[in-house]
Amino acid sequence: MKDFNFYAPTEVVFGEQSEEQVARLVRKYGGTKVLVHYGGQSAVRSGLLDKICGLLAADGIDFVKLGGVVPNPRLSLAKRGIELCRKEGIDFILAVGGGSVIDSSKCIAYGVCLDGDVWDIYLGKTKPKEMLPVACVLTIPAAGSEMSEASVITNEDGDVKLGYSNDLSRPRFAIMNPRRTFTLPPYQTAAGVTDIMMHTMERYFNTECDQTLKDEIAEALMRTMKECVFEVLKNPEDYRNRSQIMWGGSLAHNDITGSRSQGDWATHQLEHELSGMFDVTHGAGLAAMWPSWARYVMHTNISRFVRFAVNVMGVPNDFTDPEGTALRGIEAMERFYHAIGMPINIRELIGRDITDDEIREMTRKCSRNYKATCGQFRVLAAEDMEAIYRMARG
Ligand code: NZQ
Ligand code: ZN
Repeated sequence: MKDFNFYAPTEVVFGEQSEEQVARLVRKYGGTKVLVHYGGQSAVRSGLLDKICGLLAADGIDFVKLGGVVPNPRLSLAKRGIELCRKEGIDFILAVGGGSVIDSSKCIAYGVCLDGDVWDIYLGKTKPKEMLPVACVLTIPAAGSEMSEASVITNEDGDVKLGYSNDLSRPRFAIMNPRRTFTLPPYQTAAGVTDIMMHTMERYFNTECDQTLKDEIAEALMRTMKECVFEVLKNPEDYRNRSQIMWGGSLAHNDITGSRSQGDWATHQLEHELSGMFDVTHGAGLAAMWPSWARYVMHTNISRFVRFAVNVMGVPNDFTDPEGTALRGIEAMERFYHAIGMPINIRELIGRDITDDEIREMTRKCSRNYKATCGQFRVLAAEDMEAIYRMARG
């Protein structure tokens, strides 16, 4: 195995009664005045927000609420959050929601401790030395932000979506009650599972040779997600399978199947331009991009695609035709995406043809003005990115 650091400091409290521990956990990790940050309506409608606030109040923990985080969370709300935290003397941020709420919380937590514009962190112009502690009550398994070091923010000024990674931002604790995910609409459930599987795939398609243990864990994770998603789409209140998916979402992105820095991440980078420009659901955007990425890069290492086809997608191995086996694995993935209601190209994703100008604009952004490459499995220059967007147009 290549050398790596594994750092997963988040305390996970998993189960039906997990929310009851929120006040104890906030105190344990030093919170005395809390910003409770949340999204649109789901946490309000389900009563979760009231429950969390009630538990904090009952324990004498002071808090302020800030809602309104939208999917693909916006910089402007995070900036409002930073001002609010300063005004109120907040020392702890509790995200109640999914990846968007957690990422917005991380952005606020950076910004409160920074003398300057928090967007500069995402632009790579400045590096934070400290931040407020962040924790979460997770309501959707998908982004994996509950254990990850990443946050992804959209600046409405130019629709630029950028991620920033720093171990400081790994949440102190994550409360996960699978019962809270019963209310997820089918599309969000499927997009979440797509993202979970993709976090594993980004690590699985890499240039390392000696990684049997990581591969076996990754393949088990991907197969399990594939099986469970059909069960919860049939029965949204299936606790057993909702639990598997919820824990799978964390394991897919906490580096247990391989460190983030050794993964590929091209599909993610290509997708971030899609969700930045069209405000689509991240997981669905990944499904729209992956088949084209896969066909474009598969010759870099056919045997990896064969292994994926056989061990994850259940394709019979035709030893006389590795390329055919690899392709059948990609096709099987497309059938899986369709079966769970995900798109397999950009037309299906956005409901119309993408224009040449839009492809060029996404290429410009993804290549950071033609200066950066993306991917490690196969390093992609701007012309490769543009070619993949064209293949993905549908
Ligand atoms: O806003 P509300 O009303 O809460 O509705 C949300 C939202 O519309 C809804 N939802 C959440 N929990 C629910 C629920 N609806 C019913 N019942 C529940 N229990 O689901 C919708 C999506 O929520 P969101 O938080 O956006 O989903 P997700 O967790 O997929 O997060 C997506 C964001 O995370 C970023 C993505 O780019 C995107 O911006 N990512 C963050 C990563 C990280 N920090 O490590 C890595 C990922 O690759 C990803 O890029
Ligand atoms: Zn993702």
